[in-house]
Amino acid sequence: MPSLTSDATQMIEARDVRKAFGHVQVLRGVSLSVHRGEVVAVIGPSGSGKSTFLRCLNHLETIDSGHIAIEGETLATTDAQGRCAYVSDAEVRRIGAKTGMVFQHFNLFPHLTVLENLIEAPMVVQGLARDAAIARAEALLDKVGLAQKRDNYPSRLSGGQKQRVAIARALCMEPDIMLFDEPTSALDPELTGEVLRTMRELAEERMTMLVVTHEMGFAREVANTVAFMDQGELIAARPAGEFFADPGHERARAFLQHML
Ligand SMILES: Nc1ncnc2c1ncn2[C@@H]1O[C@H](COP(=O)(O)OP(=O)(O)OP(=O)(O)O)[C@@H](O)[C@H]1O
Ligand SMILES: [Mg+2]
Repeated sequence: MPSLTSDATQMIEARDVRKAFGHVQVLRGVSLSVHRGEVVAVIGPSGSGKSTFLRCLNHLETIDSGHIAIEGETLATTDAQGRCAYVSDAEVRRIGAKTGMVFQHFNLFPHLTVLENLIEAPMVVQGLARDAAIARAEALLDKVGLAQKRDNYPSRLSGGQKQRVAIARALCMEPDIMLFDEPTSALDPELTGEVLRTMRELAEERMTMLVVTHEMGFAREVANTVAFMDQGELIAARPAGEFFADPGHERARAFLQHML
């Protein structure tokens, strides 16, 4: 487990985040700080709110109350009367661009080639010229070891290759923070290694990462911090070595015993 040498810059600050779907309270006051260069693994049982929390950070869901700031810039905050307000749409988009997200099911555009998948957002959202977008995309495909798949359609790739393309696509927007939601859960076991290797390389480059995962080996070896969620609460966030030695909480201990 690497020691945390990140600086003190708060890349993600979530305070008392609450979110309900109808009558179901899915996030019950979740707080978490992630510093620059830190890798945080979020673990916990199914339905505990891990994906919802990640989606709130990336503004794929709106929160009911609480406070979220990305790199010190407020995305949403709640006043003393309990009214939650987001910053303007333009600011939400600008702040949202600081995070990139990788999903369990890749979410590649099936009708676009690998290269087209990568250059779409930089051209459309960032207004990057096609040549520059292609140069950036080719460099990232090379980085994830898929330069030769440039002109293939996603349907011709293995799951592990699709996920590495999805990571390259997220990186193409040059985010400061990468959010991963169970990036290897949809993969056959023999394909998880190549995706975890790519993520490990990103971590070694000091990318700030928040990773929802069931891969305890990855959490132990790559993450600086392990955060355990259960029933809409983030119960324990501890240095990974400490967490695996002693999760510090009965529900976390029971979960860990079940996973290992
Ligand atoms: N769009 C939605 N509408 C209604 N309920 C939802 C919605 N999304 C999630 N939920 C509910 O919120 C709770 C938390 O779901 P979430 O997907 O965040 O859990 P999770 O920890 O990511 O679980 P898993 O490990 O299975 O992915 C669950 O009870 C789920 O059914
Ligand atoms: Mg989930």
